[in-house]
Amino acid sequence: MDNTKILGILYETIYAEHGSALEMLAACKQAKSSSLAFGYFEHSKDEYNHTKTFRKILSNKTSGINTSELRRFRITPQGLIRKGYVSQNGYLVENMSLKNFIAYVYTNELLAESSFSKIVKLLGANTEEGRSVMKIMEDELRHHGKAKEYFLRYFPFLQPWQLSLYKLRESIKNKGRKFYHSNIALLEHIFYPLYSLFALIISRLLKSLNLKEFKRSNKNLMDINYKSIL
Ligand SMILES: [Fe+2]
Ligand SMILES: [Fe+2]
Repeated sequence: MDNTKILGILYETIYAEHGSALEMLAACKQAKSSSLAFGYFEHSKDEYNHTKTFRKILSNKTSGINTSELRRFRITPQGLIRKGYVSQNGYLVENMSLKNFIAYVYTNELLAESSFSKIVKLLGANTEEGRSVMKIMEDELRHHGKAKEYFLRYFPFLQPWQLSLYKLRESIKNKGRKFYHSNIALLEHIFYPLYSLFALIISRLLKSLNLKEFKRSNKNLMDINYKSIL
C-alpha cells in the first residue's frame, strides 16, 4: 500500500475519533444519572486521547512532505460536519432513543476495533506507533464491553440478533461513507483543472481593470450609479 493511502486512512480516523469524542461529550451533558455522565465523560476523554495519538502518528508520517501535498491533510472543525462524522442536524444523543444510541456505541466500538487492527498491520505491530494503536484497540473493546453491560442491565429482552442487525446497518453506513469519499476524490481530480482554468481567466480579467476609474475621493457617493459594482 502506498504512503498516501496510509495517510488518508489516518486522516479519516482522526475525524472519526474526534467525532466520537464530541458525541460522548454531548451524551455526558444530557445524561440523567451521575454514574452515566461519568461513564460518557471517561469515554469522551479516551476518544480525545485517541485523536491526539492518531494526529501524532499522522504528523510523524507527513514530516518532509511538501506543503501543497500537506494541505490535503489539514484538519478543521468544519471537516467533521462536511465529512459526515457529526451530523449537521445535531448530536446522535439528541436524535436517537437511548436504546438506539447505546446500540450505536456498542456496534461502532467493535467496528473501530476491527478497522484499527488493519491500521496496526500497516504501521507494523512491532513499531512504537503500532503499539500505541493496539492500546487504543483495548480502549475500544472496553467501551464496547461497557455498552454491552448497560444493554444487558436495562434492555434484557433485546436479542443478540437485534444487535447483529445494528452492526450490519452501521457497517453498511461506514462502507457508504468510504464509497462517497472515494467518489468525491475522483470528481475533485476531474474538476480541479477546470477550477484552475476559471481562476486563471478571472485573474487575467482583473488585471485589465483600470482601478483609477473607481477613485472615490472627493466624490459625492450619492451621485454614483446604484448599479455600480465598486
Ligand atoms: Fe476511539
Ligand atoms: Fe471508543
